[in-house]
Amino acid sequence: MKKVITYGTYDLLHQGHVNLLRRARELGDWLIVGVTSDSFDRGRGKLNVRNNVLERVEAVRATGYADQIVIEDYLGQKIDDIQKYDVDVFAIGSDWEGKFDYLREYCEVVYLPRTEGISSTMLREESETVVRLGVVGSGRIARRFIPESKVVGGVEVVSVMNPDSAEAEAFRREFELRSAHTDFDAFVNEVDAVYVASPHLTHYDYCRRALEAGKHVLCEIPFVLEGGQARELYALAEQKRLVLLEASKTAHCPGFMHLVTLVKSGVIGDVVDIKASLSKMVAPPTRELDASQAGGCVTEHAPLTLMALVKLLGRDITGASFRSRMEGGVDVFTKGIIDFPHATASVTLGIGVKTEGNLVISGTRGYVYVPAPWWLTDYFEVRYEDQTKNRKYFYSYDGDGLRYELQEFVSMIVSGRLSSYRLRRRDSVAIADLIERYRNKENVTEI
Ligand code: CTP
Repeated sequence: MKKVITYGTYDLLHQGHVNLLRRARELGDWLIVGVTSDSFDRGRGKLNVRNNVLERVEAVRATGYADQIVIEDYLGQKIDDIQKYDVDVFAIGSDWEGKFDYLREYCEVVYLPRTEGISSTMLREESETVVRLGVVGSGRIARRFIPESKVVGGVEVVSVMNPDSAEAEAFRREFELRSAHTDFDAFVNEVDAVYVASPHLTHYDYCRRALEAGKHVLCEIPFVLEGGQARELYALAEQKRLVLLEASKTAHCPGFMHLVTLVKSGVIGDVVDIKASLSKMVAPPTRELDASQAGGCVTEHAPLTLMALVKLLGRDITGASFRSRMEGGVDVFTKGIIDFPHATASVTLGIGVKTEGNLVISGTRGYVYVPAPWWLTDYFEVRYEDQTKNRKYFYSYDGDGLRYELQEFVSMIVSGRLSSYRLRRRDSVAIADLIERYRNKENVTEI
């Protein structure tokens, strides 16, 4: 029996796929089709696949050409499959001409003619409503955001708003946006959604005005500096059926998401202690050192560290106390002890003191170690007393990582989903509550 194997994503299954599968089946007596898993596609940067793996498998099955379907989940799997299933022919569309010649060592390789004029990418683009996004602010994070937005489907950054007209115009020109505004109302009229990347103290006001104007909002961290403001904004978004998402990039990072599910599944037993540290040194003049702009390491770094604590230990916070080193009216170093009913945690933050920026989650059976920079989780280890049981996990983390939060934001808008499991609204409120407690100097001691 002559066995043929072929691979693909088969998103929005189309005539090109059907032709390819028919031709591949005709090359032998048995056709094995490898369909990519969702995580494999995400890992190789295909972020906008519409159908999930079950839907795509069903669509391939329905063509009637596949005798066997396997899931492709890792790089290098093709060689394993060819050997495991005793495959005679590897077939793929001619758009891959030459790319799979390395498989000739294992079986015959055939490039089949590709059907012209159709692809999943084309179908996705045709059916896509493109969210017109406006950026408020044109500072460092906004500049990193624009290149990241280019790799996310269904969204286009069209406008920028900055009260300083020269800065707004320079940003517009550099990133070839359609418009630049100094007036928020004129700006908001031109967009469907807003990314708030302006100075901390302006977040609340811009978020509220955007929501009142009926626009979805993705807001940079720190979202707002008071729990009450966070509650009010989420209630307003809910009432207007709009998406409001805190841009907590780590919460959207594939490696961090897997870490949370592993810990929640009990791989280290009950979590008893978390140590999360984040420091980035800054030099004056910068807004991080400016008290009048809510500078300091808590407003700067607490949102990501507290997000990790809340996601892993919940919102039932029984106590919080802080030690800070102050310089020029801002905390350049803060250590916070946050207590939960059966666990404790600490955050160590610096902008004028350098710390080892790692994350350690200790449990009754073992611990998870995420080296610096843990907030861009691309690697972590689960460690036990018996070291032979230790496991290492590696992830790809593409670009600056902002693409993951933007992709979730767009997907929420398109599907009318107001809440994201990656960062629940109530978790975001809990983070704002804690930042407010610190800023109100509750249990804060200067060192
Ligand atoms: N294919 C084809 N003719 C097309 C489109 C795809 O023969 N018009 C083939 C590919 O060469 C591959 C298989 O179908 O062998 C699965 O490809 P896949 O990447 O899933 O399809 P595309 O439509 O190319 O998807 P995308 O646009 O997301 O890359």
